[in-house]
Amino acid sequence: MALQKLKKEETLEMRKRLIGQSCRLFYADDPVKITRARGQFLYDENGKCYLDCISNVHQVGHCHPSVTKAAAAQMELLNTNARFLHDNIVMYADRLAATLPEKLCVFYFVNSGSEANDLALRMAQQYTQHEDVIVLDHAYHGHLKSLIDISPYKFRKLAGQKDWVHVAPLPDVYRGKYRENHPNPGEAYADEVKRLIEEVHGKGRKISAFFAESLPSVGGQIILPQGYSSRVAKYVRSAGGVVVADEVQTGFGRVGSHFWAFQLQGDDFCPDIVTMGKPMGNGHPLACVATTAEIAGAFTSNGVEYFNTFGGNPVSCAIGLAVLDVIEGEDLRGNALRVGAHLMDLLKKLQMQHQVIGDVRGVGLFVGLELVTDREQRTPATQTAARLVKRLKEEDRICVSTDGPWENVLKFKPPLCFSMEDVNLVVQCIDRILTDMEANDLKLDKEDI
Ligand SMILES: Cc1ncc(COP(=O)(O)O)c(C=O)c1O
Repeated sequence: MALQKLKKEETLEMRKRLIGQSCRLFYADDPVKITRARGQFLYDENGKCYLDCISNVHQVGHCHPSVTKAAAAQMELLNTNARFLHDNIVMYADRLAATLPEKLCVFYFVNSGSEANDLALRMAQQYTQHEDVIVLDHAYHGHLKSLIDISPYKFRKLAGQKDWVHVAPLPDVYRGKYRENHPNPGEAYADEVKRLIEEVHGKGRKISAFFAESLPSVGGQIILPQGYSSRVAKYVRSAGGVVVADEVQTGFGRVGSHFWAFQLQGDDFCPDIVTMGKPMGNGHPLACVATTAEIAGAFTSNGVEYFNTFGGNPVSCAIGLAVLDVIEGEDLRGNALRVGAHLMDLLKKLQMQHQVIGDVRGVGLFVGLELVTDREQRTPATQTAARLVKRLKEEDRICVSTDGPWENVLKFKPPLCFSMEDVNLVVQCIDRILTDMEANDLKLDKEDI
């Protein structure tokens, strides 16, 4: 409370002066100053309530009392680094192991999704003794230099593609190379990876890892076609590489039917390394790499210690345990399934009324609404999406944002306590705004083209 003493304009002025300007604000033209939050609701300095449809970090709801209580209790007792023997780290690793296939049984705790992916990259390269990495187009895997190198979403705007990085097509069945009318898009996109591996081998190079989100997020809330991952894994492993599933956005029950999004690809698919982050600590910096005994063994075998000052400390692990308890105790996976299905259902109905809605896709509370200027060409309606996001915030105090290479996909990744009423409200508001845009603002779509 003591920290909230500045007027909004003062905060803004100080932020402009003191904080690096590449750290951008949401709604940069008219930022929101949030001073407290609970569940799926954010409150500004005047007590006005905003509905949070995008925080994929506050998985069990903002400031969940069980989580804050666990954090405070452990903070009061002890916080040290993970070099002292302590129960929390092992109890937490054991609980995580129970959510994963048996072979993913060794854990390294870190502080952010970027750290987890950087460590996964090191492990893959050390285990395979190969260097090259295959990533999906438009992917983002983190802000460290090593990860900018494997994130086409970033490196295309910066130094460009390194010779050890290879980009496979995004398996997007709405606007990608193989679409919903293809008899087997999963196989067709996987065979693109096979071709890429052959090209890499042709250059005398070798694959260390195939790195992909289990549901590509920045790429536009993409749902991978069935059969894709197991086929890719077969090709990658036969080239001597490993498969890394980036679950930084998608893990911890978001998809509802499963705890991890990679499990949507069926029981015959299991990654070799899973990275996790954002929702793990419900806002506390907590992240992790889970891997097999063989890969962990190879990482250890060079004799170099891995030391991470904060990773796996007793407070972080107490928080992680509390988050798991809430996900289970409040049946948040069941809620994600039911509420997500309701959201999909209402958005699909909306699609029948508004030509601008080209596609509705999702699983659990990971949902995308893709806007297009014409359904035939599927031309991205970027301006319309931006206007819609702005009006939802200004007129209804609903926070959503966009993703995808053209920023024309509205993304919904709310805390898993999101309710049926929240869904009804959001969809009603989108309907009202689109109806109004269609009646008064048809120029807008032309601007898009
Ligand atoms: C898929 C994915 N991986 C990794 C990261 C990096 O995580 P962090 O920002 O915690 O370093 C992000 C962050 O947005 C992400 O979306």
